[in-house]
Amino acid sequence: MKILIVGSGGREHALAWKISQSPRVNKIYCAPGNAGTESLAENLPILATDIQKLKKFAFKEKIDLTVVGPELPLTHGIVDEFEQNNLKCFGPYQIAAELEGSKVFAKQFMERHKIPTAGFKIADSPKQAKKTLNSGDFPFPVVLKADGLAAGKGVLICRSLRQAEQGVEELMVEKKFGEAGRFILIEEFLRGKEASFIVLSDGVKVCPFVTTMDHKTAYDGDKGPNTGGMGAISPSPYINKDMFNEIAKDIVFPTITRMLEEGRKYKGVLYVGLMLTKQGPKVLEYNCRFGDPETQPQMLRLKSDIVDLMEMTVEENVLDKNIEWDDKSAACVVATSGGYPRKYEKGKLIKGLDKASKIKGIEIFHAGTRKEDNNYYTNGGRVLNVCCADNTLSDAMQKIYDALDKIDFEAMHFRRDIGTMMKEKK
Ligand code: AMP
Ligand code: GLY
Repeated sequence: MKILIVGSGGREHALAWKISQSPRVNKIYCAPGNAGTESLAENLPILATDIQKLKKFAFKEKIDLTVVGPELPLTHGIVDEFEQNNLKCFGPYQIAAELEGSKVFAKQFMERHKIPTAGFKIADSPKQAKKTLNSGDFPFPVVLKADGLAAGKGVLICRSLRQAEQGVEELMVEKKFGEAGRFILIEEFLRGKEASFIVLSDGVKVCPFVTTMDHKTAYDGDKGPNTGGMGAISPSPYINKDMFNEIAKDIVFPTITRMLEEGRKYKGVLYVGLMLTKQGPKVLEYNCRFGDPETQPQMLRLKSDIVDLMEMTVEENVLDKNIEWDDKSAACVVATSGGYPRKYEKGKLIKGLDKASKIKGIEIFHAGTRKEDNNYYTNGGRVLNVCCADNTLSDAMQKIYDALDKIDFEAMHFRRDIGTMMKEKK
């Protein structure tokens, strides 16, 4: 089979790594990929958002399956476009991807179907937003969210009325995230542990993946600005069997079923971001794609052939095969450019990759990297994902941090507390 992977992050490198293990696959392309995918796939100079070019390429090269990593091409309708041309593409249709594309749609959907989530109000003007904030209906801290996609950065947690009013200015007046700020959500702040619950669905049936927990903030102890994700562990230490069943029954199944009833059949990966509160699990957000960095530890634990699973999903046959997982614990720590998620520099020489990858059990998935004359350079905010699966989480963490100590680039940053139990957010 010929596979085309769309995207350029650590998630896509991890997917390429797993896909390359399938005996059914003899050629992988990655558009645009990174310096890591280069060793497994042929990188193409096509952007992940250039649906027309991707389609032309897939058609010409007779690609058997296209796997889409990031949300933008999905919310722009890549699956619909490919299917109209008889090309198999793994992911939800545009109308279903709206669960991630519009936070307003997602919240109203959950409200309509009584799917547990934070209380909220939608504001379509700064005046209305400020009125709601002043009404006393939402105690502080309060959460403000831009409606559209803002690469995980359009969420503000405001600790006072002054901060919240400032946030409204940023989102709705200065339009820091562009048109995403036309509507905003004012949301109740939820306390608890976060978890990522990721499933495959063919639109009717659901096949859950092993659970994971991301670490969203930039610095140790859950401090600093929110990022795309600084590290992930699998399984989540906070989801036992009962909780798993509760999430599946009260959140995941109703989501898939109600989407189908609303004429928005959901086919592909559904990522449900959860807060595990004292009142039970509540949805923070839906994503219409694999998580990044959650995919990295998940791929280390996946024993089944991922190509079979994706093909069965596209062909609407998910539950015909159980997914097999390794019982080990897996983790991933993300090394970033200094300054990320704010301003950072690129083009720094990365040293020590060879030594680090020789540690038994270590897999390094690249994200923002570029290769030139056999040297690797930084080329983005999140640069490397150092991953390991081992008998215990602490064994895996030990190896990951040993490996990270061998890697170096100017202003390299990573969290030292991934996988340690943290106190509940105050
Ligand atoms: P989202 O993109 O909606 O998942 O938000 C990004 C991050 O902001 C989440 O992973 C949480 O860490 C935080 N967050 C979002 N909504 C809430 C909420 N209602 N209460 C507490 N934290 C939240
Ligand atoms: N790790 C968070 C995300 O993939 O959205």
